[in-house]
Amino acid sequence: MTNGNQPPAACLIGWPAAHSRSPLIHHYWLRTLGIAGGYVIEAVPPDEFKDFIFRLSLRGFVGANVTLPHKEQALALSKPDARARAVGAANTLWFADGELCSTNTDVEGFINNLDASTPGWDIAEDALVLGAGGASRAVVFGLRERGIKRIHLANRTLARAGALADQFGASVVPVAWDALGDILPRASLMVNTTSLGMKGLPPLDIDVGRLPPHAVVADLVYVPLDTPLLAAARARGLKTADGLGMLLHQAVRGFELWFGQRPEVTAELRALVEADL
Ligand code: ATR
Repeated sequence: MTNGNQPPAACLIGWPAAHSRSPLIHHYWLRTLGIAGGYVIEAVPPDEFKDFIFRLSLRGFVGANVTLPHKEQALALSKPDARARAVGAANTLWFADGELCSTNTDVEGFINNLDASTPGWDIAEDALVLGAGGASRAVVFGLRERGIKRIHLANRTLARAGALADQFGASVVPVAWDALGDILPRASLMVNTTSLGMKGLPPLDIDVGRLPPHAVVADLVYVPLDTPLLAAARARGLKTADGLGMLLHQAVRGFELWFGQRPEVTAELRALVEADL
């Protein structure tokens, strides 16, 4: 409790205020765990962000999620852990010994979703990651933390893949988009971090039939939930991990840091959020 007798509350800070499933997720856990607490959305323009988070505790918040366009500022204004530093962006803030700390929960969200959806995926020696933006950094860092031997990084703009590979070292190799075909037969894990396949955008033009039969295919896109990529992979008998699973698993750590209990990603929660997509 940070403010009088108010129950602890966290918020999602973004600009402009966009529709988010986070309140639904955190309210579900508060309710099912019987914790008196809150989670609200705060629309904060970029030039007010610094002031807002310096007064976060005074405003009665025990922590926050941070979304566009504030994730880089959040990193600079807090004490980031290794994950937030590696990704170059923070999406979760909390207080430890009075200090504002930050992390990037996409890393564990991605990995824990794979563990839950496709156990055994980590025998992968060669992983193929498509895309080289912010989401890709979290995925690549998670795969490296997990010790995956070779990460092939393909991106429309090859220079961006090259820059990311330079940051992460020899285990990450940039691949030109039109050379993808050479990697597919070796990739026992393929991850889409691009926006392709999202509602309103064209699908990824990749023949999943060229992946090995034991391959796992993960997509970070979750609208639609069943992306053309995941549908094609399943039709081929491949195992899949979807973007909604990652969204739910990335929310776990924030809740634990703010409210002191580690919540479960249940089938009931999944169904609840799925109905809101
Ligand atoms: P995020 O933070 O979600 O990763 P981002 O940093 O904007 O978002 O990155 C978007 C990714 O999707 C990039 O890898 C982008 O490729 P470029 O670096 O070449 O821009 C990829 N992407 C977006 N639209 C694409 C398209 N039409 N074809 C191929 N890749 C696309």
